[in-house]
Amino acid sequence: MRTLAPRTPARTRVRAAAFASATALLLGLAGVPDAHAYADARADAGARPRPVTLDSLAERTGRYYGSAVDNSELDDTAYADLLGTEFGSTTPGNGMKWYATEPQRGVFDFTAGDEIVAYAQAHKLKVRGHTLVWHSQLPGWLENGTWSARELRAILKKHITAEVRHYKGKVFAWDVANEIMNEDGTYRENIFYKTLGPGYIADALRWAHAADPGVKLYLNDYNVEGIGAKSDAYYTLIKQLKADGVPIDGFGMQAHLALQYGFPNDMKGNIQRFADLGLDVAITELDIRMILPSDAAKLAQQADWYGQVTKACLAVRRCVGITLWGYSDRHSWIPPVFEGQGAALPWDENLRRKPAYDAIAHALATAKKGE
Ligand code: G3I
Repeated sequence: MRTLAPRTPARTRVRAAAFASATALLLGLAGVPDAHAYADARADAGARPRPVTLDSLAERTGRYYGSAVDNSELDDTAYADLLGTEFGSTTPGNGMKWYATEPQRGVFDFTAGDEIVAYAQAHKLKVRGHTLVWHSQLPGWLENGTWSARELRAILKKHITAEVRHYKGKVFAWDVANEIMNEDGTYRENIFYKTLGPGYIADALRWAHAADPGVKLYLNDYNVEGIGAKSDAYYTLIKQLKADGVPIDGFGMQAHLALQYGFPNDMKGNIQRFADLGLDVAITELDIRMILPSDAAKLAQQADWYGQVTKACLAVRRCVGITLWGYSDRHSWIPPVFEGQGAALPWDENLRRKPAYDAIAHALATAKKGE
């Protein structure tokens, strides 16, 4: 006969209190006694309970809530302080990319990534590694060189092995290959594909696994949040990789969304189908831009979308966490890249919370138990 493990009343009580207090805070009832009962696993025993944050609310559901950070942003003390308190995970925006880590052939420089890891460790954040193989931000020596397949394979293996070994035990996941598909579901013709063929993807995953068997290995891309040609291509590829015994643990949906293009079609169902392949899914670079100037209606729509993304992740057990691509409009990659667009994050330029913050917090705080 199947026996059920006994329930642990104390834990149940803590969770119930956490839920009640978080909900109370969000409903403006912070004065009720339960509002002080909330503590999470990151608070040291005997220390004061940690305040309710996006990460503490996410942690209650077994997930993390994170934000990317670029090295220069750590000099902005107010910004860095909020990053360290509100979030449970961070991703270096640029510091672990190839141009930064192997600026000359065979000469490795992990200074930028190490700085972010040190900051994360000091603030008890975990770190997502980003990224080992990408067509963009490659060092000049690699991009401008002429390589035989044998040479490039050796270069790729050495790079992956050195970087993954360096960060072994310091990052919990790697975006091993980033943006390897075109919108129509064909392979992107990057330097690796052109020289090595599509087998470079399985090789990269195998080399990363050999260098750190404990780290979670992801493929990661944008415009794959909904069901369509591009996400279908990943679904087919990952199914094949799994069938071939290639180590792959997760699929990252960047989720660089834009109000003017509509919300991705069936995000929840799409996350679910990847989870059903036996994968973790993560929302890895979330932001929701708009055409400027922002106004109350656009901010309300943006808040609704942030809530929808949160709920789509919460609806799938193996959606493990959400990372914002920077958390405030003060530091965002969007305005310089998309002229006339921005206001994409849940905090504004003055680090004040926008309606999007409340929508995320509300979705997390009201998640059904077990979600
Ligand atoms: O390092 C130089 C610095 O020396 C110079 O003074 C400065 C002047 O503009 O530029 C600096 O380089 C910039 C680099 O970020 C570091 O700050 C580049 O111009 C800039 O293009 C680069 O942008 C990064 C972008 O990737 C490159 O594609 C963004 O910060 C980074 O957030 C963004 O992140 C990507 C993800 O890795 C993958 N998914 C899409 C996402 C957004 O583009």
